[in-house]
Amino acid sequence: MSGEKLTPEQEIELLKRQLAQAQRMAALGELAGTTTHEFNNVLMTILNYAKLGLRHKDDATRDKALSKILAAAQRAEKITNSVLGLARNRQEEFAPTQLSQLINESLVLLEREMAKYRVNVRCEFAEVPCVRAIGNQIQQVLLNLMTNARQAMPSGGELIIQLAHDPAAKAVDLTIRDTGSGIPREQLPKIFDRYYSTKSGPDETGKGGTGVGLATCKDIIEAHQGRIRVQSTVGRGTAFTIALPVYQDRPETSLPLPKLGVPTGETSLSAASDS
Ligand SMILES: Nc1ncnc2c1ncn2[C@@H]1O[C@H](COP(=O)(O)OP(=O)(O)O)[C@@H](O)[C@H]1O
Ligand SMILES: [Mg+2]
Repeated sequence: MSGEKLTPEQEIELLKRQLAQAQRMAALGELAGTTTHEFNNVLMTILNYAKLGLRHKDDATRDKALSKILAAAQRAEKITNSVLGLARNRQEEFAPTQLSQLINESLVLLEREMAKYRVNVRCEFAEVPCVRAIGNQIQQVLLNLMTNARQAMPSGGELIIQLAHDPAAKAVDLTIRDTGSGIPREQLPKIFDRYYSTKSGPDETGKGGTGVGLATCKDIIEAHQGRIRVQSTVGRGTAFTIALPVYQDRPETSLPLPKLGVPTGETSLSAASDS
């Protein structure tokens, strides 16, 4: 029996793996909640317009009802594709990844929530190459950052998502910028700490308040040999920038060590004005 006892190091390793697994399940659960919410909304639209079309016999009303139903069904199709996109990427392997596609799939899931909180979404995508990424992990990062941005703008604002190519660093920069509360300079060094949160608990949508969002983002980006940086100005807003290595279609051995490949200490914090 005693021969099977784990060393403290093995026990820590095991607990770490279990924690990572629990985090993946929690993210999946949150996503299931968001998706069900969105689907329910689409269904209500379809039901209501189908009833309207049956009640009113005139062509104009029926045409309107049918086009509303068509639009709702098309939206349902987009939502399904987003979730299928996640399922496609479930193999947890690094692959050439189009960030614009991942961003669009994430936005489909949060579209209604953003509209509800009067958050205007603007995408500014430059032409960028594929990055080397595990799609669903990056999607989780996007959902976390977009949700934080939305929560920083309780009375509405702008969410700006930018893609830019940085050929010198062989990287693609993805920026998620909000016009929200901003983060006080003295809090900036703490925001990536696990369990650090300034929120009193989950909001009406069941999100936030646990302080695991940014810690998870940092873990994922570091495992991608990327960087995550933040710039924030109180009262003006916050911008998180993720740099991910461009996918290189060459054997691993001939890969030059990416500039941003140093796995630790790459999270740079800055309190500089974000524009
Ligand atoms: N876009 C943002 N604007 C303002 N503050 C933010 C933003 N993103 C993160 N923060 C701050 O960082 C903290 C940690 O974020 P996170 O790890 O996602 O945990 P949680 O959202 O559960 O509080 C938040 O509680 C908040 O104080
Ligand atoms: Mg969060």
